[in-house]
Amino acid sequence: MGDIRLGIALTGRHLAGVLVACALTAVLAAPAAALDNGLAQTPPMGWNSWYRFRCQVNERIVRETANVMIRSGMRAAGYRYVNLDDCWMARSRRRGALRPDPAKFPHGIRALAAYVHSRGLKLGIYAAAGRATCMHYPGSRRHLYTDAHTFAAWRVDYVKLDGCFTTRHERGPVGYGVMQAAIRSTGRPMVLSISAWGLGTPWLWAAGVGHLWRTTPDIRARWSSVMRVVDHNAALARYARPGAWNDPDMLQVGNRGLTANEARSMFSLWSMMAAPLIASTDVRTMSATTRRILTNREVIAVDQDRGGVQGFPTYNSATQQVWIRPLSNGDRALLLLNRSAARATVGADARQLGLRPSGGYVVRDLWGRRTTTTPGPITASLPRHGIAMFRVRSG
Ligand code: GLA
Repeated sequence: MGDIRLGIALTGRHLAGVLVACALTAVLAAPAAALDNGLAQTPPMGWNSWYRFRCQVNERIVRETANVMIRSGMRAAGYRYVNLDDCWMARSRRRGALRPDPAKFPHGIRALAAYVHSRGLKLGIYAAAGRATCMHYPGSRRHLYTDAHTFAAWRVDYVKLDGCFTTRHERGPVGYGVMQAAIRSTGRPMVLSISAWGLGTPWLWAAGVGHLWRTTPDIRARWSSVMRVVDHNAALARYARPGAWNDPDMLQVGNRGLTANEARSMFSLWSMMAAPLIASTDVRTMSATTRRILTNREVIAVDQDRGGVQGFPTYNSATQQVWIRPLSNGDRALLLLNRSAARATVGADARQLGLRPSGGYVVRDLWGRRTTTTPGPITASLPRHGIAMFRVRSG
């Protein structure tokens, strides 16, 4: 059995981790409880280098990004994590430990973390559970404990563990369970992001192992890709809860390939789905439109609602959807989506949202920033691929 082979390859502390992971596997039949370490009680918010910078990431970009996150209002809006992705590493380990590429990170990760912390933000890092990272840098196979301790010593706050070049066990509850045990053994609270693209149905086991799990392959800055991911992730709504989130991948807001309307729709749908809001664009040069989308606090408040219920479509046609998300104060978030390539009017009825019956409803338009009342009908004329998003309560 792969688990046993993995166990033999490890020793001592490592074996303890494997046993924890096996125990986790054994209780898979029961609904897994979320991790109880107080992290990610709402979906993580932050920035990640990958979609914009790929392998060109370096410490200057990260420091400047942290500064812009403050100046642009992103930090004030709730963005916290500044996350390195693939390619931050040197091509080889030194005395068994990962180390940064000295050309890209001449001052090292510990200094970068200190800088990011001094800005009131947190640092995230990337590793891969198997032989190598997706871009062929050193993998963490047989090094999960060492790497968790390295990251903790650097004062890292968030670890994304990728699934390239893994065995089925490494990218399942056993492998990720070892990483969770390794993180716990450091004593440093670190978010664990499970990044195996939905392989091995993580929604069935990953609560209790990590705080968020990718549900789909990598998203592209294309409307068709966004819709594919949305359709898959929407069906998994029942698995999301505080401390345990479906991750439909990072935001493509601000990246070439999505129109402003499409970017606004993506951001709104991610918020309806209680998805992590991880921007992955160059915020140093972002347009005013991108900044306004990323910092819409009323939409972010839906994403960050403490109830942690993932919204879902209640009406579907080939080209239109109506989404609702119950919020912790009893309000409903409502999203109308026009999936067609032409302008269309989409409508819903506040009397069907499960709110207390009332003579009228108060409707807050979260992008138009207007409050109106209605006896029931709520409609919007939407551009192609456009949305309208509301917060509705009984009047
Ligand atoms: C995978 C992940 C991406 C990114 C790249 C880096 O494709 O899904 O999010 O981390 O690897 O190589």
